[in-house]
Amino acid sequence: MTETLLKVEGLKTYFYTEAGIVKAVDGVSFDVRKGETLGLVGESGSGKTVTSLSVLRIVPKPGRIVEGKIELKGENLLAKSEKEMQSIRGREIAMIFQDPSSSLVPVYTVETQLRDVLSAHEKISKDDAHKKILDLMNLVGIPEAEIRMREFPHQFSGGMKQRVAIARALALEPELLFADEPTTALDVTIQAQVLDLLEDLKKKMGMSLVMITHDMGIIAKMTSRVVVMYAGNVAEIAKTDDLYYRPRHPYTALLLAAVPRLDRKKTLSIIPGNIPNLIEPPSGCRFHPRCEFATKKCEEAPPVLEEVEPDHFVACYEWKNITLKGETGKND
Ligand SMILES: Nc1ncnc2c1ncn2[C@@H]1O[C@H](COP(=O)(O)OP(=O)(O)OP(=O)(O)O)[C@@H](O)[C@H]1O
Ligand code: SF4
Ligand SMILES: [Mg+2]
Repeated sequence: MTETLLKVEGLKTYFYTEAGIVKAVDGVSFDVRKGETLGLVGESGSGKTVTSLSVLRIVPKPGRIVEGKIELKGENLLAKSEKEMQSIRGREIAMIFQDPSSSLVPVYTVETQLRDVLSAHEKISKDDAHKKILDLMNLVGIPEAEIRMREFPHQFSGGMKQRVAIARALALEPELLFADEPTTALDVTIQAQVLDLLEDLKKKMGMSLVMITHDMGIIAKMTSRVVVMYAGNVAEIAKTDDLYYRPRHPYTALLLAAVPRLDRKKTLSIIPGNIPNLIEPPSGCRFHPRCEFATKKCEEAPPVLEEVEPDHFVACYEWKNITLKGETGKND
């Protein structure tokens, strides 16, 4: 039996803005298993980042977790004090962001900020910290580490800066890493290197990885299971192969159809319509205004996530009645 590391159940995180309550994450459930790479995918604004910030309990104001359960190895994270969370962040769960600069402090050298991370949780001598930082910099593939650790973040290229951010996130050997679009700000060639590095480190350290991305190609290459989010809800959860070959949710099928492929003459098909306003989301299934299969029922009440085959969950009234087109080959 695969061990569950993180369990998120019925999570609701809202932003109380002057314009109204933004229901950014509205009843999200999924789990992360030990050692797996789980993909979290969905259009911009679907709630991927807010979900991860919620797990770490770093949702910025005016946001707040209003309901739900977040359990790490059976322990309820929502019942922890801020002090307890501080010792969980970095040591048990870490996160890297799209823009590496947001993980790094511009006014400190790389060595100083990595040392701060190492010494925040336990006493460590300057010499031991120096050695550990050197190891970390080598681990993430930064050449001339001895010299470069004395430099400031702005002296690093985008790809190297992301490597430093990864070193910082991994300094305390977390069991779970959220990587929030870690490569979208980087050049294509550098993107591949950083993804390879993440995959390699994940294996070496035996951690679980939650890979957040818009890119179905990255999902296909790196993940074993996928959570598809739409407008603050989970639309589908499945093993990556099942999702590609047998998508059950109309939105997933559209996401797959929108993947640009070199062997396709056809240009990228864009998903029609816009992601809804989350202050007054559509009634019933939030996807109904864009869904070609929508019926009256879809407008009335939101569908719940149901297990349609082992390890395959879908929130759609019509999944039994519709045949959706999957990919013909996952990586071709
Ligand atoms: N500080 C905030 N104040 C108000 N609304 C917010 C705030 N942060 C996020 N939101 C809203 O929460 C919703 C989900 O945002 P989130 O950043 O999680 O989306 P995402 O799936 O990560 O998108 P992207 O792919 O663009 O990163 C969006 O509607 C967004 O406008
Ligand atoms: S529940 Fe209805 S609107 Fe929603 S995805 Fe299924 S068919 Fe479309
Ligand atoms: Mg995001």
